[in-house]
Amino acid sequence: MVTKAPVAIPTPRTIREERLARDGKRRRPTHHAEVNPLREGLRLERVPDPHVFVLFGATGDLSHRKVFPALAQLWRTNLLPADWALVAIGRRPYDDGTFRMDIAESLHRNCRVQLDEEAEHQFLERVFYHRGDFGDDATYDTLSRKLEEMHLEQETGSNLLFYLATQPSAFPMIVAEIGRCGLDHEVHNGGWRRIVIEKPFGRDLDSAKRLNREMLKVFRESQVYRIDHYLGKETVRNLLVFRFGNGIFEPLWNRRYVDHIQITVAESLGVEDRGAFYEETGAARDVLQNHLMQLLSLVAMEPPATFAADALRDEKLKVLRAIAPPTRQEVQRDVVRGQYDKGWVAGVPVKAYRAEPEVDPESETETFVAARFEVDDWRWSGVPFYLRTGKRLAKRASEIAIQFRDVPHRLFADSTTDPQPNLLAIRVQPDEGILLRFGSKVPGLGLDIRPVTMDFTYGTAFSTDAPDAYETLILDSMLGDQSLFTRADEVEAAWTIVTPIHDAWLDMPQPEFPNYAAGTWGPEEADELIQRDGRRWRRL
Ligand code: BG6
Repeated sequence: MVTKAPVAIPTPRTIREERLARDGKRRRPTHHAEVNPLREGLRLERVPDPHVFVLFGATGDLSHRKVFPALAQLWRTNLLPADWALVAIGRRPYDDGTFRMDIAESLHRNCRVQLDEEAEHQFLERVFYHRGDFGDDATYDTLSRKLEEMHLEQETGSNLLFYLATQPSAFPMIVAEIGRCGLDHEVHNGGWRRIVIEKPFGRDLDSAKRLNREMLKVFRESQVYRIDHYLGKETVRNLLVFRFGNGIFEPLWNRRYVDHIQITVAESLGVEDRGAFYEETGAARDVLQNHLMQLLSLVAMEPPATFAADALRDEKLKVLRAIAPPTRQEVQRDVVRGQYDKGWVAGVPVKAYRAEPEVDPESETETFVAARFEVDDWRWSGVPFYLRTGKRLAKRASEIAIQFRDVPHRLFADSTTDPQPNLLAIRVQPDEGILLRFGSKVPGLGLDIRPVTMDFTYGTAFSTDAPDAYETLILDSMLGDQSLFTRADEVEAAWTIVTPIHDAWLDMPQPEFPNYAAGTWGPEEADELIQRDGRRWRRL
């Protein structure tokens, strides 16, 4: 049972008075007494400018589960500026006090590390509720006035960060209203305006282009932060360091040494309470178009000239553009879809997808997709990339596996065990780490070879907890760093690959769903897809 914290309802003025009474001037904030020694050496210098965080969809699930806990963690570790406030916009009839009580409850449920009472109180008193309908001009007119007042009352430098955690259908409407009120206009002597949007960014190439157009009528691309939360994961960020911060891997990272690459995003969960959303989405739109394509482009990209956001994104874009949109025949041959039947996950019986709440009992939505792609460029030509994702698979495991070519000449052909080729596996989650497999002689008088592994795990190598992806991404958007956000052309390039798959499926005979039992690794056709090339999926 979560207890509701009593929350006072100060006005912006009382916050300011309290702050002035405390120290009276701009400084690095120390919101509360507790100092975390593990923060030493982290991003101590990177505290964002003062700003107001304007959260649309503040009463929704995403805000409660991800956005508020991430903000609270940033606050707890003194990574938010002291002159910071949040305006939460939603339709439900809250006032500041009742909304804060709700948020307090969510924080108790969802925070990685609980805030102490004082820090929580200070955080919550910077949260203000603004009730209104996203389609109603009045919502924005009153919001404009409120923001103006806040800029005057608090030293937020007229900086505004809009965060759209709403249904995607509301994006164009909200963006147009922000434009109508001129809230997107950056102020000459400072005063930045940025907008963060959640996926899904469109549902096919045309709708993504339309959305980009609507977005860019109001904001410039340099103001837009499109979230793919996989890019904020510690292990995914480390992929860049692993590849480009070390000298020994890059020379092997090409068609000469790599046999193939497997990228898996497997989930043991089903669709939970998102049946209605998932019916419209399916695995290819939900994960293949974004998370898997992003992982693929990070694995396959050329080293960027600098670590600047656009240098990085240019290289990722080139990878996506080097993947030819699949023809209908290629979709038939190289893409497998599946839908889970009832089964057992971790010893617990679970329902079929078609029996989940808000799901059509005859649904043809895929909950699994596996595909084979090739990146037709100088580095990767001829190296297959096998991608798979699914719900209700045997376990939760996301991994990138680089399978190297076999030795050119088997010197130890007499060995009684078949040595497996070298493998480098980057475990994105859980059990985050990197594993290198190589053959080793079994001790003894004979000459048997067995695969052994060298294993790096974050848990044992570092004594500190990794931040949640949302903490990283929200902080980066406040700092104006777009490196880990997808650019309009990247999103469109990914849809250019995925939309032909949906188009081909529309023309193809209806799939025989359900075709895999919950708790397995997906349909048999997915195994056949890779076995056809003489390879097999890694057991995770
Ligand atoms: C989201 C998808 O983008 O990613 C979900 O919409 C999926 O369906 C989730 O469960 C997976 O993210 P994570 O971080 O749990 O691997």
